[in-house]
Amino acid sequence: MFRLDGRVAVVTGAYGKLGPVWVGALLDAGARVAALDLEGAKPSPPLRDLQARREGSLQLFACDVTSRASLNAARAAVEDAFGPPSVLVNNAGIDQPPGPAQTYRIDEIPLEACRRILEVNVLGLFQATQAFLPAFRSAGGGSIVNIGSLYAGVSPDARLYEHLPLEPPFLKPPMYGASKSAVSSLTRYLATHLASDRVRVNTLIPGGVLGAQDEEFKRKFSDRVPLGRLATLSDLVGPLVFLASDASSYVTGHDLLVDGGFTAW
Ligand SMILES: NC(=O)c1ccc[n+]([C@@H]2O[C@H](COP(=O)([O-])OP(=O)(O)OC[C@H]3O[C@@H](n4cnc5c(N)ncnc54)[C@H](O)[C@@H]3O)[C@@H](O)[C@H]2O)c1
Repeated sequence: MFRLDGRVAVVTGAYGKLGPVWVGALLDAGARVAALDLEGAKPSPPLRDLQARREGSLQLFACDVTSRASLNAARAAVEDAFGPPSVLVNNAGIDQPPGPAQTYRIDEIPLEACRRILEVNVLGLFQATQAFLPAFRSAGGGSIVNIGSLYAGVSPDARLYEHLPLEPPFLKPPMYGASKSAVSSLTRYLATHLASDRVRVNTLIPGGVLGAQDEEFKRKFSDRVPLGRLATLSDLVGPLVFLASDASSYVTGHDLLVDGGFTAW
């Protein structure tokens, strides 16, 4: 029941850090996978590696989730290549990592940056779902997995970034958590409205994922997690396959927290 043999899966924003994790998991479960990302975006080395090893089962397509024309063109190209998809991982999303980029006090955060986050993370996700819905109907139903964030449910803890030598201190963008709250809300909306099309819709919420963060951040973050560490990429594979496959056939409208217990404390 965890297999996806014969199915076609689409992953948006697939060229970054988590995209190749979802793509690899879906390929390993037997699906053929369409990896979508912005025209001109560079596939990350793990995605290029999958492309080289899984030629035939994986194809890359240009697609901007904020453009309906681009989404429609991508859907047509995916259907030509593989047939109608029955799995959609709405992964495309933007954030602002801590770093030397401009930092702001709350009262000075420009609305333009706020708007762009909402445009991609909320409207882009909704529009990608709209664009692929006819294909889901042709395929007889399927599973949509929206990638959320634990900042949908709790506020980012600014103390995690206090050690960074930035003035004003780094603030996670306020619209990031707000956009991911909207993602969880849309999951419930879509789950109820698409149930009669045999489409299940759930949110996978990764906790902090181990990457190139500084050591002090990793120590502070791990202290906040009951399991005592950040997530590894492989921690995310099982939950994605569970939600994408028939293993979760009676699960819809659910937020699956994969956060090591961060939000339980
Ligand atoms: N990395 C983490 O620790 C973490 C934790 C929780 C949730 N998430 C969520 O996981 C998802 C992926 O995160 P990531 O770390 O891989 O980010 P990333 O920045 O590495 O990759 C995001 C990808 O989305 C693409 N993208 C941006 N705008 C797009 C658009 N308009 N249309 C299509 N593609 C677009 C980018 O080109 C990029 O390849 C996001 O939704 C993010 O909010 C990440």
